[in-house]
Amino acid sequence: MIILSIETSCDETAVAVTEGRKILAHAIYSQVLIHKKWGGVVPSLAKRAHEERIDLVIDEALKKFSSTSSFMSPLGPVSLPQSRKKLMSSQKLREQTFQFIDAIAVTYGPGLAIALEVGIAKAKELARKYKKKLIAVNHMEGHLYANFAQNSKGNPQRNFEFPYLGLLISGGHTEMIAFKDHLSYEILGETIDDAAGEALDKAAKMLGFGYPGGAVLEKLAEEVGNKDFHKFPRPMLRSKELNFSFSGLKTALFYYLKNLSDEEKAKQIKELASSFQEAVFDTVCFKLERAMKESNIKKLVVGGGVSANQTLRKRLRELAKKYDGEVIFPPLKYLCTDNAAMIGVAAHFKAEKKMFVKDLEKLDRIPRLKLS
Ligand code: KG4
Ligand code: ZN
Repeated sequence: MIILSIETSCDETAVAVTEGRKILAHAIYSQVLIHKKWGGVVPSLAKRAHEERIDLVIDEALKKFSSTSSFMSPLGPVSLPQSRKKLMSSQKLREQTFQFIDAIAVTYGPGLAIALEVGIAKAKELARKYKKKLIAVNHMEGHLYANFAQNSKGNPQRNFEFPYLGLLISGGHTEMIAFKDHLSYEILGETIDDAAGEALDKAAKMLGFGYPGGAVLEKLAEEVGNKDFHKFPRPMLRSKELNFSFSGLKTALFYYLKNLSDEEKAKQIKELASSFQEAVFDTVCFKLERAMKESNIKKLVVGGGVSANQTLRKRLRELAKKYDGEVIFPPLKYLCTDNAAMIGVAAHFKAEKKMFVKDLEKLDRIPRLKLS
């Protein structure tokens, strides 16, 4: 089954064409430059940018799809001369390509309400126009399934060996999930305030860097060997529960910086970045280890923008090794952050169970949608 998927839950406008776990084509328009000067994602700007770009991103993904071998007519591959392909209008391109698409998938939550609405409205419009089935996907299940995405040749060939312990760690989310079987999840712990990526972004901002700041802190920390110089608090380590809290850590940095002159701050910037990052990752690894022990699941799957961090990856590999487990990361970097291919992969498993949207009118965004 070939699925066209749409993702607009936050600040990436993304579209992909997938078949099973294989990514046949994908396109992403990142809004990061739009939001950068505001120091974070501005929902109204995100909505406008999604609206302005979504058709272009759909057409880009369809154009890429039309040059793949899966784009076959009953008489064999459709070979459009290069010059005609370029000249083809958006409408013609869609008429040609939608013949080969079996269903449309869309993220319906969690995320920013007015951003989700753009993707959902477009998915409904296409489903109606081309008479396709619609599949509604939870963004977080997309992040879990991103670990099992494959290229168009079917690599990597990794099989599912449930159960997994999922760690989703991004600017919007920090949660641990027992991924028990296809489409079966249990949230074991989540942040009660800021997400880990949000904490890193806020720390970077306090240190004078732009948004997003996680990767900047990673570089600075590396330059001083990822050491912990300041011993900032590790929130909630003593509490027995598996939830996270990062807002106290942010406050600790704020008060530390308050007593420093600009000169002193500049001198200590790498040590501060490294210590802050260590406090965040220590907390994450501590709770994850506890979740591994309590759930007895030693196979980890990871997702979300912060999982691009090499220091965190190293620590997760060490943690898995300690328990004779393993850790899986999404096979390509763009699959860590928001994308539509992961939505298409999750949608495939929903389609196998015939979990289609029954009534298009009734599908609505759920900004605080939870995995269950
Ligand atoms: O998944 P994502 O692209 O968007 C959502 O928040 O859903 O994640 C973005 C977050 C930001 O907080 C960003 O600072 C963080 O991921 N991030 C990183 C790195 N790359 C992105 N954090 C630490 N190290 C990185 N290399
Ligand atoms: Zn995400």
